[in-house]
Amino acid sequence: MSDATYYLTTPLYYVNAPPHLGHAYTTIIADCLARYHRLRGDPVFFLTGTDEHGQKIQQAAAAAGKTPQAFANALVPTFQALWETLTIRPDYFIRTTDATHTAGVQEALRVLQARGAIRKDTYEGWYCTPCETFWPSLTVPPGAAPTCPECHRPVERIQEENYFFPLEPHRRWLVNHIRQDDEFIRPVSRRNEVLAFLEQPLQDLCISRPTARLSWGIPLPSPPFEPGYVTYVWFDALLNYVTAVGYPAVDGRWPAKLHLIGKDILRPHAVYWPIMLHALGLPLPTTIAAHGWWLVGGEKMSKSKGNIVDPQAVVAEYGVDAYRYFLLREVPFGQDGTFSKAAMEKRYTSDLANDLGNLLYRTLTMIEKYCGGVVPNTQPRRGIALPAYEEPEEDFLPGLGTGVHLSKAFGAYDFQFALTIIWTCINQGNAWIDQKKPWVLAKGDEVATQELARVLARLSEFLRALAVWLWPFIPTTSEQMWGQLGCPGKIEDVRWNQAWAPGASAGQRIQKGSPLFPRREPTAR
Ligand code: MSP
Repeated sequence: MSDATYYLTTPLYYVNAPPHLGHAYTTIIADCLARYHRLRGDPVFFLTGTDEHGQKIQQAAAAAGKTPQAFANALVPTFQALWETLTIRPDYFIRTTDATHTAGVQEALRVLQARGAIRKDTYEGWYCTPCETFWPSLTVPPGAAPTCPECHRPVERIQEENYFFPLEPHRRWLVNHIRQDDEFIRPVSRRNEVLAFLEQPLQDLCISRPTARLSWGIPLPSPPFEPGYVTYVWFDALLNYVTAVGYPAVDGRWPAKLHLIGKDILRPHAVYWPIMLHALGLPLPTTIAAHGWWLVGGEKMSKSKGNIVDPQAVVAEYGVDAYRYFLLREVPFGQDGTFSKAAMEKRYTSDLANDLGNLLYRTLTMIEKYCGGVVPNTQPRRGIALPAYEEPEEDFLPGLGTGVHLSKAFGAYDFQFALTIIWTCINQGNAWIDQKKPWVLAKGDEVATQELARVLARLSEFLRALAVWLWPFIPTTSEQMWGQLGCPGKIEDVRWNQAWAPGASAGQRIQKGSPLFPRREPTAR
């Protein structure tokens, strides 16, 4: 446990459409980390929210015949409802239209202007609305329409006066910081990508739009700026990470420990944002960690590509924890993954129903059958002369050291590996039952009965530890396990290093319920 708050953030999602699998993925990872740190006893502040300004939203609202604010107000609850469905528990949900955020952004603009960090200039170039990004120059093959280098969609030609934030003066400083601090950008492939990008001089960042072209943003405070400008998207939204903790008077939660993002928004987070903080005189976050994309049919899942998989529908079919488990298990952090129902079905049946579900079900069934539903106390009974009884050396003790290995995996954002470790233990547990054959022991002599009691006690303790280790990943299932094992209190009050607690389960009355992952009828595909 440490005193410093574990402050972690997700991106603020655009409210031009309801959330999809991509948004769910980042937020599930954040929730998993938040829960893990809570179990460690760290104070946690988990921030998510919505990015509501910009042309994209103004256009989507116009198409729907609504004002941008009314349009955003209608979409925000779809995000909040999804986090609820997915058992994601943020500590705070920020909206870039919040009055406190607006005031904080305006203050940051005043500070930068006073420090001489902003200049006015005429801009001429191309603009990509889906990416909300300017491209000063593009190579356009003769006869072809100019397209965005990032998303390959059409761009528009634009010329206007705007305010700019020069990045180049900070480039050397940023390169040094990234080189000196291995933790700053994760994984290392992304760190190298940013360092390569920083080999070239940086263009000034355009931070305003004339109200005539875009009205849906935060007004630049006038004075010191000329009237008739708004700031929006990157400059506005990135600042949420500090306005959420009190900027201009940031409290002890800043700097954040982790900005979790998708690789699509690495540059704004790993280049613009650190430079903005540096120019404002604020300390940098510890880590920016970028995950890969979920692809469907080889393409990034996105609204504009029309290949959205609705999380609510998948959860309705497979359950929330199967969804969380699949996303955290299937793909190594940082790499792209492909979503398919066939792959989900496989994980559901083999990992969740067969391995985990069975381990709990068989154990509880045996405790019911052989021990009257009470977890046996494995201490030798006094007054009865039994032959010397010693635990075999090769015995089943997956609890020892597992928590430590899991912590290392969390530290490396390696959720897939963490789950692989846990499932190795689960498989050992099932194999141990097959090897010990409690049903044979149950028919044996006094020594066999004592061995049976010990096996079932060990399994209960192991399942108790599993419930704790799994809580960050699949909290509803963990809580069901906890309840069925008859464990007292709440998992979240147990500390990570007390997950494996030999003897803790002795005497508990189990409450066997329905299987954790009921068999599914094969679906038509
Ligand atoms: N509003 C900006 C972020 C501002 S942060 C200060 C934005 N919003 S977004 O709605 O487009 O969300 C982008 C994020 O959603 C990605 O970084 C990632 O976290 C998630 N994903 C969106 N589509 C995704 C996939 N297909 N796959 C994985 N995650 C993706 O950018």
